[in-house]
Amino acid sequence: MDELSSLAKRRGFIYPGSEIYGGLAGFWDYGPLGVELKNNIKREWWKSMVYNRDNIMGADTAIIMNPKVWEASGHVEAFTDPLVECKTCHHRFRADKIEQHCPDCGGELTEPRKFNLLTEVYIGTTEEGKKKAYLRGEITQGVFVNFRNVVDSSRVKIPFGIAQIGKAFRNEITAGNFTFRSREFEQMELEYFIKPNDDEASKTFEFWKQTRMNWYEDLGMQQQKLRFRRHEDNEKAHYAREAFDIEYNAPFGWSEFEGIHNRGDFDLKNHNLKYKDEDGSEYTPWVIETSGGVDRAALFFLINAHTKESKRIVMKLDPRLAPYKVAVFPLLRNRPDLIKKAKDIYQNLRNKYYCAWDDRGNIGKRYYAQDEIGTPWCVTVDFVTLKDDTVTVRDRDTTRQERIPATKLDGFFQEKLNAK
Ligand code: GAP
Repeated sequence: MDELSSLAKRRGFIYPGSEIYGGLAGFWDYGPLGVELKNNIKREWWKSMVYNRDNIMGADTAIIMNPKVWEASGHVEAFTDPLVECKTCHHRFRADKIEQHCPDCGGELTEPRKFNLLTEVYIGTTEEGKKKAYLRGEITQGVFVNFRNVVDSSRVKIPFGIAQIGKAFRNEITAGNFTFRSREFEQMELEYFIKPNDDEASKTFEFWKQTRMNWYEDLGMQQQKLRFRRHEDNEKAHYAREAFDIEYNAPFGWSEFEGIHNRGDFDLKNHNLKYKDEDGSEYTPWVIETSGGVDRAALFFLINAHTKESKRIVMKLDPRLAPYKVAVFPLLRNRPDLIKKAKDIYQNLRNKYYCAWDDRGNIGKRYYAQDEIGTPWCVTVDFVTLKDDTVTVRDRDTTRQERIPATKLDGFFQEKLNAK
């Protein structure tokens, strides 16, 4: 993890939040490559969940809502973790994550008490008039409170889903394991509304469970590092009838990065929302939810891709997730004819693919630098290019090079990306 987090910082994936002021525990900033990785994850998710399906639409709801939403949803009452405090050093810990004594000083711990994870904010322009609200603890509730709006404005029929990606905030007792447990993070969620029926619920649950697992495998997560884990009754969230996690075998142990939940009618009923079916019957739909963390997915895709070989470090990200798809190099930086040709190719390709340009140092070092950040292909313009308009394309994973006509590069990359 130390190697990965230092690579992530050095190469511009992830930086500690507010670093020049000493940081702020549980907050992280994404740099030029990190934002590309996250955007690619979100784009692939949106394609798979919204664009490739007939009955799923998107939404983007507010982060701050009327606090009544969180009372109705049960979060004000039940969105808690058990907290213990050391009687000696007063450090606080999540009770379910530690042994009997304070991990910092060995002191005696208090009895566990419930600690609410919602982050409070105050809205208003005068001290007296300021009202307490919450940053959303899950992005989900914004979808539920708009259930009727979506039905009325789009005429969808059950079963249908609403997909959303956005920031959530939790005042976690202990943030840690790099970005794994943060206080600000992003979620990608589907709320899928069905008729209230046990058979329908278990079929739909199985479908989404498998669909979500397949998505991670298709994007290159190693199968043997993934597993499902069913929640025991005493660990289920207050809204869940059934819950499975998708877990990754991280360096810090098996860890959840997506939850599949059967929320039944818990939420719509609490918000007093019903659905009128075509046959005239009225009922409260049930909800099957898939809830993944964008930051945890990014972290696990990086861990999964981080490969040490004898002479290099390679980030073997799926090309669809890689920040840069292609890097373009002139063989030498002091030859205007090579630079001009390479720049033409670079400008041409970057209309379609996010491309890197590098003319520093020798070619070996440039390959090394691109391998480390996961760029799948490097194009080099050399003296042969000036004669016959062919270039070398070097593959990140095999390190093999092939010569192809410059005019065929677009088709070449298109084919490689479509094959994915
Ligand atoms: N709407 C359901 C829900 O929020 P959850 O299991 O509490 O369910 C879903 O969270 C996902 O959100 C988790 O699997 C994880 O990927 C991400 N997540 C939750 N808490 C997080 C945290 N403190 N830091 C980073 N990601 C988090």
